[in-house]
Amino acid sequence: MDLPSNKRILSAAQPTGEAHIGNYLGAFKQWVALQDAGNDVCAMIADLHAITAPYDAATFPNTTLRMAALLMAVGLDPKKSVVFIQSHVPAHTEAAWLLTTITPVGDLTRMTQYKDKAKKQKTVGAGLLNYPTLMAADILLYQTEIVPVGEDQTQHLEFARTLARKFNRQFGKTFTEPRAFVLEETARIMSLTDPTRKMSKSDLPASRIGLLDDPSAIPRKIRAAVTDSGTAVNPKKLGPALTNLLTIFATFSEKPFRDVAEEYAGLGYAVVKSALADLLVDRLAPIRNRAEELLWDHGELQRILADGAERAATLANKTLVTMRKRMGLLLPQNE
Ligand code: AMP
Ligand code: TRP
Repeated sequence: MDLPSNKRILSAAQPTGEAHIGNYLGAFKQWVALQDAGNDVCAMIADLHAITAPYDAATFPNTTLRMAALLMAVGLDPKKSVVFIQSHVPAHTEAAWLLTTITPVGDLTRMTQYKDKAKKQKTVGAGLLNYPTLMAADILLYQTEIVPVGEDQTQHLEFARTLARKFNRQFGKTFTEPRAFVLEETARIMSLTDPTRKMSKSDLPASRIGLLDDPSAIPRKIRAAVTDSGTAVNPKKLGPALTNLLTIFATFSEKPFRDVAEEYAGLGYAVVKSALADLLVDRLAPIRNRAEELLWDHGELQRILADGAERAATLANKTLVTMRKRMGLLLPQNE
């Protein structure tokens, strides 16, 4: 994998439900690799985006904290990267408002994700419509050069680029134009119960392996996973279910997909499943243990996040003041 280095990177995940191996292989693992390749990574927990969909306010603080612990447990190091909660840095909401004033409503109503989500809700909040503008603010405030995202977010990223160009043209060069970074091989880990659908937080627990799943649940879920017709692995004729299981195997063991498929050629599906379950239990144990350790001490976790928010705010406020000046807003005397 060819990784950039010395770039400003912003990545984010919403604290909705429990993250799974699809999130890990498709997103978090790359963020850690980008951090370790010497980039300046800002890793954000997008709580303000999460509340644009129905959610449970009572459990939300805990869900947010668990997501923060998980990001650190998979290897985001708060000493190297800036790990923070979006709502702890007020510059995001302020910049989003400023950008709203130059956002054409038509561009927002045309967004695929907006149309999909709006269909599923009885009343559509303006927050759901303005979601891409807030996401543009997240990115542009940090002069972000590269944004690692899944396929589903590339339209939002294109929108952020367009908005950056528009602002720069109208008010003078203020923002860096960000680029998307999509890793093709693991962009879509599929459901264990229906390999034609993406593994998702909103699907049944049997369809996914949660990063914090109890180790005893992992072999059970893998054993019950749907397979293709036939009984043994044929690398020349792999169906969607075996392709998915072997993709998970290859990525977790850091081996090429072809090698793993050849290694299991002619062996029964049960053998593959048993080896995959062992591998997952082994690879997920340190993540789970580390997350539990971090969650043991909420005070310490909150302290790390406060430090992240402070560092993020210093970066973000600098851009925000420039935005306000360029837009002709009178700054208060002390700024
Ligand atoms: P979300 O769970 O939608 O907040 O997604 C967080 C990150 O994980 C995003 O970058 C998604 O593109 C990525 N992601 C979510 N589900 C999968 C999946 N099944 N396979 C690969 N990447 C995924
Ligand atoms: N919308 C993104 C998702 O659902 C999360 C997100 C919010 C994001 N702000 C961002 C991703 C900024 C990248 C950059 O996955």
